[in-house]
Amino acid sequence: MAERKQWKWAADPSLNKMEFTKLEKDGLDVIETIVNTYSKEGFASIESSDMDRFKWAGVYQQRPKDGHFMMRVRIPGGILSSEQARVLANIAADYGRDLVDVTTRQAVQFHWLTVESLADIFERLASAGLSSFESCGDCPRQIMGNPLAGIDPHEVLDTRPIVAELEKFFLLNRDFSNLPRKYKISVSANIHNAAHAQINDLAFTPAKKVIAGEEVIGFHVWVGGGLSAKPFLAKQLDVFVRPEDVVKVAAGVTTLYRDFGYRQKRTHARLKFLVADWGPEKFKEQLLELVGELEPGGIDLTAGWNGGYFYGIHEQRQAGLNYAGLSVPVGRMNARELNELARLADEYGDGTIGTCNTQNVLIRNIPEAKVAAFRNEPMIVNRFKLQPNTFVGYAVSCTGTEYCNLAIVETKERMRSLAQYLDDTVVLETPLRIHMIGCPNSCGQRQIADIGLQGALVKTADGMVEAFDIFVGGTLEEPQFNRKLNARITVDRLGPFLAQLITLYKVDRQEDEPYWRYVERVGLSHIQAQVDSILQPA
Ligand code: HEM
Ligand code: SF4
Repeated sequence: MAERKQWKWAADPSLNKMEFTKLEKDGLDVIETIVNTYSKEGFASIESSDMDRFKWAGVYQQRPKDGHFMMRVRIPGGILSSEQARVLANIAADYGRDLVDVTTRQAVQFHWLTVESLADIFERLASAGLSSFESCGDCPRQIMGNPLAGIDPHEVLDTRPIVAELEKFFLLNRDFSNLPRKYKISVSANIHNAAHAQINDLAFTPAKKVIAGEEVIGFHVWVGGGLSAKPFLAKQLDVFVRPEDVVKVAAGVTTLYRDFGYRQKRTHARLKFLVADWGPEKFKEQLLELVGELEPGGIDLTAGWNGGYFYGIHEQRQAGLNYAGLSVPVGRMNARELNELARLADEYGDGTIGTCNTQNVLIRNIPEAKVAAFRNEPMIVNRFKLQPNTFVGYAVSCTGTEYCNLAIVETKERMRSLAQYLDDTVVLETPLRIHMIGCPNSCGQRQIADIGLQGALVKTADGMVEAFDIFVGGTLEEPQFNRKLNARITVDRLGPFLAQLITLYKVDRQEDEPYWRYVERVGLSHIQAQVDSILQPA
């Protein structure tokens, strides 16, 4: 066990219970205990305080709590190799009942793991240069990035080395393994905000500045974004960061969070609460004290938002090469499909695969001459489509009651079949992003959806029934979270209700007007009136 740190908040008696657990034994120490003890002695040997620390190893108990775990694997920046993909596929096949989920932060998630399997899984991941460590827990999580980094015609800088440096700096770094709460970083130089800067705790977005007569490409810095029950959009600090200073600035921001972040209530512990209280000015002053002077902000190079979608075949920065954006409905696949993706990446591309925060994937570096054959691959024609239908293509869903202990309702299969129903019922040629979540924690990021569906229960004559609250108008194009309508729709009516609501928009909207912009133009009360008329008893 590593030397214990003397944290300055240790003497505070008002800390929440989890803080005492973390002070007693650092979360990272559980990895050794899992490998040496629990994976040999089994589920019954796990001490209850260590069960909380399992998150630092990247594993959580799944629902029902019957001895099975889910594991999240970090895919830094959302880029992995075909070899790594095969290792992941084999883990899913051998231990995870053949299930692989791509998450909304570009990680990969397994279910059904037993504690006995964990030591072997950690080893297999390490041998492929992958890790699940600190992908859950109060620490720096999976680093989100541009899955097209290095090949993107819409990026101003290749961020792969920066993401790799950040990963190396933070992963298993005991200076930062005891944060007040989870901590999410995003880095992208894509001008269309591919890595959803405003909903991360710390984000870097592309910028330029003339310094001493020379134009420098670097980053602007955003802090304090996050979703969950009290969502906040990150605030931009008035600083310009050179690429070589990203790690230093990230370390500074994380130190501020570690030392000044709130540790009394778990629901009031994310960086967003500190940033909201301090404001960006004070936060910047404190940061500069730690990291030294930084240039004030330069020219923002962000122009709009691509939603994290890359469907179809597109030319890369490199002439003659293409990338292929593929749809994975609600992010779920099996081991055979992941292996097949690895084969396609090797045979047609350069063996790299991108994971997208829209729960989709992409294949990189396909030479022009191979594009036609690639399009005809059965897996591309039938399953991971280049041009999915609108609703299946733009549906996102969290895990829900299938495996999540916090869920109120079932989501994943429901969102999949709902999207299919809408595609069968309403013809819409422009994207309409629907995100479904099973509780207010917002893993499926419902706040940024055109239409967000949040699970709830309603009492009926037949007992408690699953239902959804409806939120409309979310976007990061002109960043705003969607807003709640006065309507709680039981699941039996959800499909027809949405089909009617979307049909009204289709009739009323201006050419190609996205749903969020339509909501802004006509106003929430207009949408509420539409809802009321749909719900009126016949
Ligand atoms: C299956 C068990 C899971 C549990 C118990 C869980 C738990 C949570 C909790 C408690 C929060 C709220 C965080 C907060 O208050 O700060 C949260 C947020 C979040 N989770 Fe999960 N989660 C699970 C699965 C997932 C999955 C499958 C994904 C990806 C698809 C995911 C991605 C996220 C994201 C993106 C957020 C919101 C980001 C934010 O708060 O800034 N989680 N999760
Ligand atoms: S949003 Fe809620 S129900 Fe869905 S995975 Fe997250 S914690 Fe579970």
